[in-house]
Amino acid sequence: MSVLAIHGGTPVIAPGTYQRAAWPPTDEETAELVKELYLSGKWSFNSEMEQAFEAEFAASCDAKYGVFMANGTVTLECALLSLGIKPGDEVIVPGLTWMATAMAVIYVGATPVFADVDKDTCCLSAESFQKAISAKTRAVIPVHLYGSMADLEEILAIARQHDIAVIEDCAHMQGGKWNGRGAGSWGDVGSFSFQQSKTLSSGEGGICVTNDATTADLLYRAKHIGYSRMDSQGGAKTPPPPEMICHNYRGLAISALILSRQLKKLPERLQKYRQFADSLCQIVKQFPGVRIQAPGRLATTQGYYGVQVIFDPEIWGTKDIGPVFAYEGFPIFNNYGPVYKHMLFNTEKYRNCGCPNAEFLGLNAKTLLHTYMDSPDMLPVIADIFQKVYENRSQI
Ligand SMILES: Cc1ncc(COP(=O)(O)O)c(C=O)c1O
Repeated sequence: MSVLAIHGGTPVIAPGTYQRAAWPPTDEETAELVKELYLSGKWSFNSEMEQAFEAEFAASCDAKYGVFMANGTVTLECALLSLGIKPGDEVIVPGLTWMATAMAVIYVGATPVFADVDKDTCCLSAESFQKAISAKTRAVIPVHLYGSMADLEEILAIARQHDIAVIEDCAHMQGGKWNGRGAGSWGDVGSFSFQQSKTLSSGEGGICVTNDATTADLLYRAKHIGYSRMDSQGGAKTPPPPEMICHNYRGLAISALILSRQLKKLPERLQKYRQFADSLCQIVKQFPGVRIQAPGRLATTQGYYGVQVIFDPEIWGTKDIGPVFAYEGFPIFNNYGPVYKHMLFNTEKYRNCGCPNAEFLGLNAKTLLHTYMDSPDMLPVIADIFQKVYENRSQI
């Protein structure tokens, strides 16, 4: 028996040994190109760079159209606007997600309704989605969370049956493919975030993809003060639909350039992450009561913002296990927790259809971020850490 590092024992590895990859990635060639673009002064308003990235990114997700924006919250808001979601409508969102998924619904005046997640994938459960449907339901936002994808096949089948629009929140799912086709291209709109920590990052940024020309036009109008893509500045020829609220949510050409450079390297990065996740899965299998978030059922390429490591409290105890592992040198941290507990939504105004899995995962699933999945040399150390914590779990 040895003393756990959280109680003053010697950690399996010294603090700081398990370094995360430098993020976001930088390189000199991109810096030169950014400088060139800066000097050209072509920074906004449908720049060639922005249009090129929209086309590249949409193609990479097997979608016809891409509309680049300022971040991955306004992309969700514009997706809702483009699909005609309005005050009085209900939009079903998973109980476990980042607050932006539900906030976007409130921004368009609609009402988020919280449905449970699947205990294996941690993404929206099709069964729970079905139960949450009411006469007011107009849209659902499955979130492809951390290292898994929501079951698109099941969710789309239910949505089509009830005439409910589907917006895939792919903030975590850059490069993911479901049954060979890009995440984001399955629903009516796919929404992506390029915020600093994401697997494609320009500090801030986002994009919507769609296969429908009318939706693409409305997405564009929603983010660019009602103009269509063909309109010149100051010369809008056709108005947006009556009462459609339009914004200035434009993105920057420099962001598009940085993202375009990173996009080329994404498949290689995801392959490394997949290998790491598979090896981690093999390690945790050796211990009772712990598992890795299941990848999407039909994920042919799994995207990874990170992975969830899920502990059974009957074996590992009910105290917060994250710091116990972090002290030994394995940096796993809390996930978002149930989104309806956030002060913005923690009111009787919002329907919560019962989310016991979101509650369980909020307490017992811990997140390893993707920047730590670039270190295969750490895998034997992780195995040692699991061994030590498991053997000494009575101290937790
Ligand atoms: C699941 C999810 N949806 C939406 C967003 C919003 O993206 P952004 O921060 O770019 O607005 C995030 C951001 O972390 C997210 O994790």
